[in-house]
Amino acid sequence: MVTALQSTSSVEVDSTLASFEREFGSERRDVSAALEECAANLIPPGWSDLGDAARYAMLGPGKRIRGVLLIAAYRAAGGRGDIAPLAAAVEIVHAYSLVHDDLPCMDDDDLRRGRPTVHRKWDVRTATVAGVAMVPLAVRAALLGAARLDLSSAASGAIVAELMRASGGGGMIGGQLLDLESHAAGFSLTDLERIHRGKTGELIAASVMIGGLAAGARDSQLDALARYGYDIGLAFQIADDVLDVTSTSDRLGKTAGRDAALGKQTYPSLLGVQGALDRASALIDDACESVKTSGLASDRLQQLAKFVILRES
Ligand code: IPE
Ligand code: IPE
Ligand code: MG
Ligand code: MG
Ligand code: MG
Repeated sequence: MVTALQSTSSVEVDSTLASFEREFGSERRDVSAALEECAANLIPPGWSDLGDAARYAMLGPGKRIRGVLLIAAYRAAGGRGDIAPLAAAVEIVHAYSLVHDDLPCMDDDDLRRGRPTVHRKWDVRTATVAGVAMVPLAVRAALLGAARLDLSSAASGAIVAELMRASGGGGMIGGQLLDLESHAAGFSLTDLERIHRGKTGELIAASVMIGGLAAGARDSQLDALARYGYDIGLAFQIADDVLDVTSTSDRLGKTAGRDAALGKQTYPSLLGVQGALDRASALIDDACESVKTSGLASDRLQQLAKFVILRES
Protein backbone atom coordinates (compact mmCIF):
# COMPACT_ATOMS: atom_id res chain seq x y z
CA MET A 1 0.00 0.00 0.00
CA VAL A 2 1.29 3.47 -0.80
CA THR A 3 0.11 6.42 1.27
CA ALA A 4 0.22 10.20 0.97
CA LEU A 5 3.84 10.00 1.99
CA GLN A 6 5.17 9.47 -1.50
CA SER A 7 8.85 10.19 -1.73
CA THR A 8 11.09 11.24 -4.59
CA SER A 9 13.85 8.72 -3.98
CA SER A 10 14.24 5.70 -6.25
CA VAL A 11 14.06 2.96 -3.60
CA GLU A 12 10.53 1.56 -3.33
CA VAL A 13 8.89 0.42 -0.12
CA ASP A 14 5.33 -0.25 0.97
CA SER A 15 3.70 0.65 4.20
CA THR A 16 2.66 -2.53 5.92
CA LEU A 17 4.36 -4.22 8.82
CA ALA A 18 4.21 -7.32 6.61
CA SER A 19 6.53 -5.62 4.12
CA PHE A 20 8.91 -4.63 6.93
CA GLU A 21 8.81 -8.25 8.07
CA ARG A 22 9.53 -9.44 4.53
CA GLU A 23 12.46 -7.07 4.00
CA PHE A 24 13.93 -6.92 7.50
CA GLY A 25 12.41 -9.98 9.22
CA SER A 26 15.73 -11.72 9.51
CA GLU A 27 17.39 -8.75 11.27
CA ARG A 28 14.30 -8.29 13.45
CA ARG A 29 14.41 -11.94 14.50
CA ASP A 30 18.14 -11.67 15.23
CA VAL A 31 17.52 -8.67 17.51
CA SER A 32 14.69 -10.49 19.29
CA ALA A 33 16.86 -13.58 19.78
CA ALA A 34 19.66 -11.38 21.18
CA LEU A 35 17.16 -9.80 23.58
CA GLU A 36 16.13 -13.29 24.74
CA GLU A 37 19.79 -14.08 25.36
CA CYS A 38 20.25 -10.85 27.37
CA ALA A 39 17.16 -11.61 29.45
CA ALA A 40 18.40 -15.15 30.13
CA ASN A 41 21.97 -14.13 31.01
CA LEU A 42 21.65 -10.70 32.61
CA ILE A 43 18.49 -10.87 34.75
CA PRO A 44 19.39 -12.78 37.92
CA PRO A 45 16.77 -15.30 39.18
CA GLY A 46 16.64 -13.44 42.52
CA TRP A 47 15.03 -10.41 40.93
CA SER A 48 11.62 -12.09 41.17
CA ASP A 49 8.79 -9.65 40.15
CA LEU A 50 11.37 -7.10 39.10
CA GLY A 51 12.96 -9.64 36.75
CA ASP A 52 9.59 -10.74 35.39
CA ALA A 53 8.65 -7.11 34.69
CA ALA A 54 12.00 -6.33 33.01
CA ARG A 55 11.71 -9.51 30.92
CA TYR A 56 8.13 -8.63 29.91
CA ALA A 57 9.23 -5.12 28.84
CA MET A 58 12.36 -6.28 27.00
CA LEU A 59 10.75 -9.12 25.09
CA GLY A 60 7.40 -7.51 24.23
CA PRO A 61 6.43 -7.60 20.55
CA GLY A 62 7.91 -4.30 19.31
CA LYS A 63 9.11 -3.52 15.80
CA ARG A 64 12.79 -3.52 16.90
CA ILE A 65 13.39 -0.74 14.42
CA ARG A 66 16.25 0.81 16.40
CA GLY A 67 18.05 -2.53 16.47
CA VAL A 68 17.36 -3.12 12.79
CA LEU A 69 18.68 0.38 11.98
CA LEU A 70 21.84 -0.33 13.96
CA ILE A 71 22.39 -3.54 11.99
CA ALA A 72 21.70 -1.80 8.67
CA ALA A 73 24.14 1.03 9.46
CA TYR A 74 26.79 -1.48 10.55
CA ARG A 75 26.47 -3.43 7.31
CA ALA A 76 26.25 -0.28 5.16
CA ALA A 77 29.62 0.72 6.64
CA GLY A 78 31.13 -2.66 5.78
CA GLY A 79 30.68 -4.50 9.11
CA ARG A 80 30.38 -8.30 8.80
CA GLY A 81 30.35 -9.55 12.41
CA ASP A 82 27.65 -10.80 14.80
CA ILE A 83 26.09 -7.39 15.48
CA ALA A 84 22.67 -8.38 16.91
CA PRO A 85 23.84 -8.53 20.58
CA LEU A 86 24.90 -4.87 20.34
CA ALA A 87 21.58 -3.99 18.68
CA ALA A 88 19.79 -5.57 21.67
CA ALA A 89 21.41 -3.00 24.00
CA VAL A 90 19.71 -0.12 22.19
CA GLU A 91 16.39 -1.95 22.27
CA ILE A 92 16.71 -2.42 26.04
CA VAL A 93 17.10 1.34 26.54
CA HIS A 94 14.10 1.88 24.27
CA ALA A 95 12.01 -0.71 26.14
CA TYR A 96 12.80 0.96 29.48
CA SER A 97 11.81 4.34 28.03
CA LEU A 98 8.40 2.90 27.13
CA VAL A 99 7.87 1.50 30.65
CA HIS A 100 8.48 4.95 32.15
CA ASP A 101 6.64 6.83 29.37
CA ASP A 102 3.48 4.87 30.24
CA LEU A 103 3.61 5.56 34.01
CA PRO A 104 0.74 7.54 35.57
CA CYS A 105 3.07 10.51 36.18
CA MET A 106 3.92 10.59 32.45
CA ASP A 107 1.43 9.52 29.74
CA ASP A 108 -0.63 7.30 32.05
CA ASP A 109 -1.23 4.56 29.49
CA ASP A 110 -2.79 1.13 29.99
CA LEU A 111 -1.85 -0.50 26.68
CA ARG A 112 1.57 -1.10 25.12
CA ARG A 113 2.54 -3.47 22.32
CA GLY A 114 -0.99 -4.89 22.48
CA ARG A 115 -0.70 -5.83 26.15
CA PRO A 116 -1.20 -4.19 29.56
CA THR A 117 1.55 -1.71 30.42
CA VAL A 118 4.05 -2.84 33.05
CA HIS A 119 2.54 -0.77 35.87
CA ARG A 120 -0.91 -2.19 35.00
CA LYS A 121 0.31 -5.78 34.98
CA TRP A 122 2.35 -5.30 38.18
CA ASP A 123 2.27 -1.90 39.92
CA VAL A 124 3.86 1.54 39.66
CA ARG A 125 6.66 0.71 42.06
CA THR A 126 7.69 -2.43 40.15
CA ALA A 127 7.46 -0.63 36.79
CA THR A 128 9.54 2.31 38.02
CA VAL A 129 12.28 0.13 39.48
CA ALA A 130 12.28 -2.35 36.59
CA GLY A 131 12.71 0.58 34.16
CA VAL A 132 15.68 1.95 36.11
CA ALA A 133 17.23 -1.53 36.39
CA MET A 134 17.12 -1.88 32.62
CA VAL A 135 19.61 0.99 32.12
CA PRO A 136 22.67 -0.71 33.66
CA LEU A 137 21.43 -3.91 32.06
CA ALA A 138 21.63 -2.18 28.67
CA VAL A 139 25.18 -1.01 29.40
CA ARG A 140 26.22 -4.56 30.25
CA ALA A 141 24.51 -5.79 27.07
CA ALA A 142 26.41 -3.17 25.03
CA LEU A 143 29.75 -4.20 26.51
CA LEU A 144 29.02 -7.88 25.83
CA GLY A 145 27.90 -6.99 22.31
CA ALA A 146 31.12 -5.05 21.68
CA ALA A 147 33.18 -7.96 23.07
CA ARG A 148 31.39 -10.34 20.69
CA LEU A 149 32.74 -8.21 17.83
CA ASP A 150 36.25 -8.10 19.33
CA LEU A 151 36.14 -4.30 19.36
CA SER A 152 38.97 -2.37 21.00
CA SER A 153 38.31 -0.90 24.45
CA ALA A 154 38.34 2.57 22.83
CA ALA A 155 35.61 1.55 20.39
CA SER A 156 33.48 -0.14 23.10
CA GLY A 157 33.89 2.93 25.31
CA ALA A 158 32.78 5.22 22.47
CA ILE A 159 29.72 3.04 21.86
CA VAL A 160 28.62 2.96 25.49
CA ALA A 161 29.28 6.70 25.82
CA GLU A 162 27.11 7.40 22.75
CA LEU A 163 24.28 5.20 24.05
CA MET A 164 24.28 6.86 27.47
CA ARG A 165 24.70 10.39 26.07
CA ALA A 166 21.69 9.90 23.80
CA SER A 167 19.62 8.44 26.64
CA GLY A 168 20.45 11.12 29.17
CA GLY A 169 19.41 14.62 30.21
CA GLY A 170 20.74 16.16 26.99
CA GLY A 171 18.93 13.49 24.94
CA MET A 172 15.94 11.23 25.54
CA ILE A 173 15.26 12.04 29.19
CA GLY A 174 15.69 15.77 28.58
CA GLY A 175 13.14 15.49 25.77
CA GLN A 176 10.73 13.56 27.98
CA LEU A 177 10.95 16.24 30.66
CA LEU A 178 10.19 19.00 28.13
CA ASP A 179 7.35 16.85 26.76
CA LEU A 180 5.68 16.89 30.18
CA GLU A 181 5.57 20.68 29.98
CA SER A 182 4.37 20.82 26.38
CA HIS A 183 0.91 22.22 27.21
CA ALA A 184 2.38 25.61 28.18
CA ALA A 185 1.01 28.73 26.47
CA GLY A 186 3.10 30.27 23.67
CA PHE A 187 4.40 26.85 22.65
CA SER A 188 5.95 26.94 19.15
CA LEU A 189 6.94 24.50 16.43
CA THR A 190 10.58 25.14 17.38
CA ASP A 191 9.80 24.01 20.95
CA LEU A 192 8.08 20.88 19.63
CA GLU A 193 10.97 20.03 17.31
CA ARG A 194 13.35 20.28 20.26
CA ILE A 195 11.20 17.87 22.29
CA HIS A 196 10.87 15.36 19.46
CA ARG A 197 14.54 15.45 18.61
CA GLY A 198 15.31 14.82 22.28
CA LYS A 199 12.76 12.24 23.34
CA THR A 200 12.89 10.11 20.18
CA GLY A 201 15.46 11.43 17.68
CA GLU A 202 18.51 11.06 19.90
CA LEU A 203 18.15 7.31 20.51
CA ILE A 204 17.33 6.62 16.87
CA ALA A 205 20.35 8.66 15.73
CA ALA A 206 22.50 6.87 18.32
CA SER A 207 21.37 3.48 16.99
CA VAL A 208 22.62 4.42 13.53
CA MET A 209 25.84 5.96 14.86
CA ILE A 210 26.61 2.93 17.01
CA GLY A 211 26.25 0.71 13.94
CA GLY A 212 28.80 2.94 12.19
CA LEU A 213 31.15 3.04 15.19
CA ALA A 214 31.05 -0.76 15.50
CA ALA A 215 31.98 -1.12 11.82
CA GLY A 216 34.88 1.35 12.16
CA ALA A 217 33.25 3.80 9.71
CA ARG A 218 35.32 6.77 8.50
CA ASP A 219 34.54 10.25 9.91
CA SER A 220 32.82 11.33 6.70
CA GLN A 221 30.60 8.25 6.86
CA LEU A 222 29.81 8.87 10.54
CA ASP A 223 28.81 12.44 9.63
CA ALA A 224 26.45 11.13 6.95
CA LEU A 225 25.02 8.54 9.36
CA ALA A 226 24.46 11.24 11.99
CA ARG A 227 22.57 13.47 9.51
CA TYR A 228 20.52 10.47 8.37
CA GLY A 229 19.83 9.37 11.96
CA TYR A 230 18.69 12.79 13.19
CA ASP A 231 16.42 13.29 10.17
CA ILE A 232 14.72 9.91 10.44
CA GLY A 233 14.58 10.27 14.24
CA LEU A 234 12.49 13.44 14.01
CA ALA A 235 10.42 11.97 11.17
CA PHE A 236 9.75 8.87 13.29
CA GLN A 237 8.17 10.94 16.07
CA ILE A 238 6.18 13.07 13.58
CA ALA A 239 4.78 9.82 12.14
CA ASP A 240 4.02 8.63 15.68
CA ASP A 241 2.04 11.85 16.30
CA VAL A 242 0.16 11.36 13.03
CA LEU A 243 -0.67 7.71 13.78
CA ASP A 244 -1.99 8.77 17.19
CA VAL A 245 -4.61 10.82 15.29
CA THR A 246 -5.28 8.63 12.25
CA SER A 247 -5.00 5.05 13.50
CA THR A 248 -6.76 2.83 16.02
CA SER A 249 -5.67 1.28 19.31
CA ASP A 250 -6.08 -2.19 17.81
CA ARG A 251 -3.73 -1.43 14.97
CA LEU A 252 -1.19 0.47 17.09
CA GLY A 253 -1.21 -1.84 20.11
CA LYS A 254 -1.31 1.33 22.22
CA THR A 255 -4.05 3.85 22.98
CA ALA A 256 -4.88 5.94 19.91
CA GLY A 257 -5.89 9.55 20.55
CA ARG A 258 -3.81 9.67 23.70
CA ASP A 259 -1.98 12.91 22.74
CA ALA A 260 -5.24 14.86 22.36
CA ALA A 261 -6.63 13.31 25.55
CA LEU A 262 -3.54 14.54 27.42
CA GLY A 263 -3.78 17.98 25.76
CA LYS A 264 -0.35 17.56 24.14
CA GLN A 265 0.97 19.72 21.36
CA THR A 266 1.96 17.57 18.38
CA TYR A 267 2.89 18.03 14.72
CA PRO A 268 -0.72 17.44 13.59
CA SER A 269 -2.05 19.83 16.25
CA LEU A 270 0.33 22.58 15.06
CA LEU A 271 0.54 21.85 11.30
CA GLY A 272 -2.48 19.64 10.55
CA VAL A 273 -2.11 16.01 9.46
CA GLN A 274 -1.06 16.87 5.90
CA GLY A 275 1.41 19.52 7.06
CA ALA A 276 2.96 16.99 9.44
CA LEU A 277 3.18 14.35 6.70
CA ASP A 278 4.84 16.83 4.33
CA ARG A 279 7.44 17.74 6.94
CA ALA A 280 8.18 14.07 7.67
CA SER A 281 8.45 13.29 3.97
CA ALA A 282 10.94 16.13 3.41
CA LEU A 283 13.06 14.85 6.31
CA ILE A 284 13.13 11.36 4.79
CA ASP A 285 14.21 12.74 1.43
CA ASP A 286 17.03 14.63 3.16
CA ALA A 287 18.03 11.49 5.08
CA CYS A 288 18.19 9.47 1.87
CA GLU A 289 20.27 12.20 0.19
CA SER A 290 22.76 12.18 3.10
CA VAL A 291 23.56 8.50 2.77
CA LYS A 292 23.44 8.29 -1.04
CA THR A 293 26.58 10.34 -1.51
CA SER A 294 28.50 9.10 1.53
CA GLY A 295 30.25 6.04 0.18
CA LEU A 296 27.99 3.85 2.35
CA ALA A 297 26.03 0.97 0.81
CA SER A 298 22.82 2.90 1.31
CA ASP A 299 19.89 1.04 -0.29
CA ARG A 300 18.77 -0.71 2.92
CA LEU A 301 19.14 2.53 4.87
CA GLN A 302 16.92 4.29 2.33
CA GLN A 303 14.32 1.52 2.56
CA LEU A 304 14.29 1.79 6.35
CA ALA A 305 13.99 5.59 6.19
CA LYS A 306 10.84 5.20 4.12
CA PHE A 307 9.39 2.60 6.44
CA VAL A 308 9.79 5.10 9.30
CA ILE A 309 7.03 7.28 7.85
CA LEU A 310 5.01 4.80 5.79
CA ARG A 311 4.51 2.40 8.68
CA GLU A 312 1.03 1.72 10.00
CA SER A 313 2.00 1.01 13.61
C1 IPE B 1 7.29 4.08 20.31
O1 IPE B 1 8.36 3.55 19.59
C2 IPE B 1 7.75 5.23 21.13
C3 IPE B 1 8.28 6.35 20.36
C4 IPE B 1 9.46 6.80 20.50
C5 IPE B 1 7.41 7.01 19.43
P1 IPE B 1 8.15 2.34 18.57
O2 IPE B 1 7.03 2.69 17.63
O3 IPE B 1 9.45 1.99 17.95
O4 IPE B 1 7.65 1.19 19.53
P2 IPE B 1 7.83 -0.39 19.44
O5 IPE B 1 9.20 -0.71 19.93
O6 IPE B 1 7.60 -0.83 18.02
O7 IPE B 1 6.77 -0.93 20.38
C1 IPE C 1 7.61 8.46 23.64
O1 IPE C 1 6.83 9.34 22.91
C2 IPE C 1 9.06 8.79 23.63
C3 IPE C 1 9.79 7.88 24.54
C4 IPE C 1 9.34 6.76 25.03
C5 IPE C 1 11.13 8.25 24.91
P1 IPE C 1 5.27 9.04 22.95
O2 IPE C 1 4.72 9.23 24.31
O3 IPE C 1 4.60 9.75 21.83
O4 IPE C 1 5.28 7.46 22.62
P2 IPE C 1 3.99 6.55 22.60
O5 IPE C 1 3.03 7.17 21.63
O6 IPE C 1 3.46 6.51 24.00
O7 IPE C 1 4.52 5.22 22.11
MG1 MG D 1 5.25 10.36 25.96
MG1 MG E 1 3.42 7.94 25.41
MG1 MG F 1 3.03 8.94 20.68
